[in-house]
Amino acid sequence: MILITGVSGSLGGLILRGLSGVEDVDVVAGSHSGGGGTIRRVDFDDPGSLPEAFLGVDVLLVVSAGYAEDDVVFARHGAVADAAAAAGVRHVIYTSAASSCESMTIAVPHRWTENRLASGPFSTTILRNGLYTEIPVGLATAGAGEAAATGEFAAPFGDGKISVVAREDLADVAVRVAAESQRDLDAGRPIRHAGRVYELEGDTPIGGTDIAECLTAALGRPITYRPTSLSATRAALKDSGLEPYQIAHTLSTFSNVIAGRAQARTSDLADLLPAPARQPKAAIAEAVAAGGYQGQSISATRR
Ligand SMILES: NC(=O)c1ccc[n+]([C@@H]2O[C@H](COP(=O)([O-])OP(=O)(O)OC[C@H]3O[C@@H](n4cnc5c(N)ncnc54)[C@H](OP(=O)(O)O)[C@@H]3O)[C@@H](O)[C@H]2O)c1
Repeated sequence: MILITGVSGSLGGLILRGLSGVEDVDVVAGSHSGGGGTIRRVDFDDPGSLPEAFLGVDVLLVVSAGYAEDDVVFARHGAVADAAAAAGVRHVIYTSAASSCESMTIAVPHRWTENRLASGPFSTTILRNGLYTEIPVGLATAGAGEAAATGEFAAPFGDGKISVVAREDLADVAVRVAAESQRDLDAGRPIRHAGRVYELEGDTPIGGTDIAECLTAALGRPITYRPTSLSATRAALKDSGLEPYQIAHTLSTFSNVIAGRAQARTSDLADLLPAPARQPKAAIAEAVAAGGYQGQSISATRR
């Protein structure tokens, strides 16, 4: 049986939908708020909820619960590793951060968790997820109104680009890896994904000029890209409603983009997807055309 945690989240919900369509494996859903019915209560902040939640689970698909200060995330994911070991879980799949995030602050709890899981008595697969396409989509929709008025799209990307990936593609890979791992266990075979670390990064890095080109096409007037400073971004984020740790992560991410460190050097995505990866420029064009820019803010870049 596969248990997927975090099903009320965007990624967890997509994975659950995908796994629910797989007929030859048993799947149960977990959420920290419970949810009733067949959804098990899996609250990483309440380790006491985990032994019962993990009963009978062979494959545990852990969706990272990263919206908190790092020490909280260490405690959450450490509790999951302990409970999985105690419950006799055979294989743990964890949604981590890709190599292009390596020097971003968000990588710290992910790499900590990878190491913690590696010391468990179960096998593991690490899904190193790239940054979501929603980041450039959020920036484009947030900036579309100003771009339409001024002819400029402003963002703190410098000359850098960011390798983003659609959540739907990440969910498709997670579904495949979880289902194949369970099938291998059911058949008494070695788990083909055991011990693997997959880099799941997009194949089309997106920079400020790329977003401006998308806006040009969507808005029907020439839009040029104007790089903005980190200090201006910090000032704009001050009253954004983001938690201080989220502001720190956001600035670290943009710093890495400007430094040219947010581009993927390698990716396993194409090998694991059943179809070509979803393209970020199409997602940007679609979001801007849908007029979603009116109410959005830079907080769409939170993580
Ligand atoms: N690659 C990226 O660009 C990127 C961006 C943002 C975040 N992330 C990471 O990827 C994860 C999934 O992204 P998302 O877009 O699906 O985020 P999301 O929609 O905001 O979902 C947050 C996730 O955290 C889980 N969670 C929160 N508190 C929890 C707790 N106490 N115990 C167990 N789970 C808890 C939620 O599950 P339940 O509420 O169902 O328990 C849900 O799966 C995030 O949590 C974060 O760690 C990645």
